[in-house]
Amino acid sequence: MRPGTGTMNTAITGLQWGDEGKGKIVDLMTSDHDVVVRYNGGANAGHTVVVGEETYALHLMPSGILSPDIQCVIGNGVVIDPTKLLEEIDSLESRGINTNQRLFISDRAHVVLDYHKMLDGALEEFLAGGRSGASIGTTRRGIGPAYADKVLRAPAIRVGDLRYPDVLEERVRIACDLHGEQLASLGWSERPDPEKLIATCRDWGARLGDRIIDTTYFLHDAVKAGKRLLFEGANACLLDVDHGTYPFVTSSNCSALGIPAGTGLPAATVDRVIGIMKAYSTRVGAGPFPTELDNAIGEQIRERGREYGTTTGRPRRCGWLDLVAVRYAAMLCGTTSIACMLLDVLFGLDEVKICTAYRLPDGSTTDRFIPDAHRLSGVEPIYERLPGWDGELDFDGAREQLPDGARRYLDFIEKYLEVPIEVVSVGPERTQTLMASTI
Ligand code: IMP
Repeated sequence: MRPGTGTMNTAITGLQWGDEGKGKIVDLMTSDHDVVVRYNGGANAGHTVVVGEETYALHLMPSGILSPDIQCVIGNGVVIDPTKLLEEIDSLESRGINTNQRLFISDRAHVVLDYHKMLDGALEEFLAGGRSGASIGTTRRGIGPAYADKVLRAPAIRVGDLRYPDVLEERVRIACDLHGEQLASLGWSERPDPEKLIATCRDWGARLGDRIIDTTYFLHDAVKAGKRLLFEGANACLLDVDHGTYPFVTSSNCSALGIPAGTGLPAATVDRVIGIMKAYSTRVGAGPFPTELDNAIGEQIRERGREYGTTTGRPRRCGWLDLVAVRYAAMLCGTTSIACMLLDVLFGLDEVKICTAYRLPDGSTTDRFIPDAHRLSGVEPIYERLPGWDGELDFDGAREQLPDGARRYLDFIEKYLEVPIEVVSVGPERTQTLMASTI
């Protein structure tokens, strides 16, 4: 809280491998804020928000767009596929949600083009061919190749470039030459067409128009004016390129650590960090997952939790809650409170298990996470077993008492993490939520 202003800026960040339900919490928290800011990732993310009878699946658009008085910012740390973003804008507008003068896009965010998606597919196929276990299982949305161009510099195209034909043309030609060679050497049949891409980019520049601004100054001005910011993390902490289960990660800093670099605001701007966790674990794509359940309970969690990707429709891998992983993520993100999502999915099990430590291949144990895929894949989870709880969940407005077993489960998590659980979610609706005062 900034002294004398009463202003509270909040970060929402996923503490597992994504799909924790961040969209719902952002939506719930939005009314306490003025500006919702995306700072990382791209159309690989999928945030589902249910408002009354309406369900919205958002990928690039900040979830705050569903609240009419909120301004939304896509910061410089995001990689934007304008085709997808314009589709989202059109779809929202056709459902009566105005995005004009409410959505602002950083001129320094990077653009995802067709060749990034081709390269994403080509690299995945290359890694899969004869190299079992090497492909990442990406969303093939071009995320990794777009961030790679950003770091390479010469072939990168930023959103601001869309409005400068000369810069744009030169960069698209460099990128098409370079990536054409790469695609050929990877045995990929498609090639980018520079003329078509240049025309498309100009069209995007015109359509995005005055939404493209210097969002860094915009955000600093907002802070100075006492506006309250809500930072909406995409993907999640254990997929962070520096701190996740490398190399089975995405290509951005998707923990709360990505906020300063991805927005241009100093880290101290963030007053509180709400870490979002599921009551169990899921993962999409490849990579180590110590508590994975390849059995009927895993299947039950998948079906009850509707654990299929919002972006790709892939079935998610499901498993018991891994608190070693969540505690690590909460530590990294400076988490000040927790929202525990999808607790309803665990109702009706005889017993529930929580991983509290790992056994290493040499027989020793540790309660510290191992952010390295090779070493993490060799651990065995050590579980605490808790009795399950019954049965039918019938929340009317989600203000009923939770069963004893569910409360014990939450108490255990809170004690282990040493961070208070302030929100418990038992269904997709806004109303199916227990906030701190009621739990
Ligand atoms: P990429 O981000 O498409 O490069 O994919 C890299 C890895 O991150 C893959 O395992 C994806 O399944 C995973 N991933 C990326 N974004 C999300 C997300 O929002 N939720 C869950 N997994 C994700």
